[in-house]
Amino acid sequence: MSEEQRPLRVGVLGAGPISQAAHFEACRKAKNAELYAICDVAQDLLARVVAIHAPEKSYRDYDAMLADHDVDAVIVAVADQFHVPMALKALMAGKHVLVEKPMGVTVEECEELRDAARASGLVVQVGTEKRFDEGIAFARNFIREEMGEMIALKAWYCDSTHRYTMTDALQPVIEESERARRPGGDPKSDLRRYYVLGHASHLLDTARFLGGEIEAVRTRLVEKFGAFCWFSEVEFADGSAGHLDLTIKVRMDWHEGFQVYGEHGSVIGKTYNPWYYKSSDVECFSEREGGRYHRPLGADGHFFRRQVEGFADSILDGAPMRGANAEDGLAAMRGMAAMARSVETGEAVRLAEAKASA
Ligand SMILES: NC(=O)c1ccc[n+]([C@@H]2O[C@H](COP(=O)([O-])OP(=O)(O)OC[C@H]3O[C@@H](n4cnc5c(N)ncnc54)[C@H](O)[C@@H]3O)[C@@H](O)[C@H]2O)c1
Repeated sequence: MSEEQRPLRVGVLGAGPISQAAHFEACRKAKNAELYAICDVAQDLLARVVAIHAPEKSYRDYDAMLADHDVDAVIVAVADQFHVPMALKALMAGKHVLVEKPMGVTVEECEELRDAARASGLVVQVGTEKRFDEGIAFARNFIREEMGEMIALKAWYCDSTHRYTMTDALQPVIEESERARRPGGDPKSDLRRYYVLGHASHLLDTARFLGGEIEAVRTRLVEKFGAFCWFSEVEFADGSAGHLDLTIKVRMDWHEGFQVYGEHGSVIGKTYNPWYYKSSDVECFSEREGGRYHRPLGADGHFFRRQVEGFADSILDGAPMRGANAEDGLAAMRGMAAMARSVETGEAVRLAEAKASA
């Protein structure tokens, strides 16, 4: 942001847990954005978060927030099923959009949003904040610039049985309301879909961020003692072998990371539960440099603030998007749908042919 430029005025749709734990603070701390407006249908919840964060404006009606000419961009932080319709509305109103992950809940609606994003010329970014983890970003640069050709990538994302104990200790008190708007039915009635949408969206995005386009997956799901384990054999577009492990709930600490092997080096990464705001521990081994390891500190672990700053950089300065774009959001959705189809059929499923949902 240049000195004479004003910060990006952000309106956040949804005052639920993710906004309270991440987006409100991220917008307030961002060097080039401000928390200009908050919108939630639940009046009691809205009043409480407005008292804490003091945005310029507050709205119960999304259309009214979109009609506010001073809102430059919207963060869509509502339930997954509402992402695409609310993001489309924002684009229609000429607002840039940062939409929470997963970008949508079906391949078809994600295609619609991707097409609308293209046609609008506005910035549409998907909220897979791990791309703003300095360790992961360092690994990606090393893979692209130093490692040479890739031969294999493994990535894992294993949510822990102790997850809520950890996050409750780290997050602020989350305000709740009985008037909050949620989609009909119980999202947890189909746990497979619920977990894949919530978690595989991160795993697939990180795998693609590091390893490039995924062509096909063959997934096996094992369910035992209330735990779910999706093991996916992955074919990358460059012919590399891949393996993705999504396990919920692993009986140990949060376990997330990746290994990438290449012609002139390799990368090993350990990612922490995001609420610790600690960048991934990454070691990049360079054969070219006579056998040397590189290990970044990644001191700034506020992925959510960095995500908003990257979003604002793209809008205010036309900087290349560092986050996931609508094409990436669609690719992750295709990956989730392909995993689900493969579990059903036992066959490998090409992402280009993936339809419907997880
Ligand atoms: N990036 C991450 O790591 C991460 C972590 C957690 C959650 N999430 C995602 O964030 C999203 C939101 O999660 P949450 O737990 O905060 O959701 P939530 O459903 O608990 O809260 C959403 C809030 O939005 C409000 N709302 C919904 N539709 C509205 C409308 N049309 N107008 C005004 N207000 C409306 C509701 O009243 C509610 O208060 C989900 O998609 C989830 O997957 C992402």
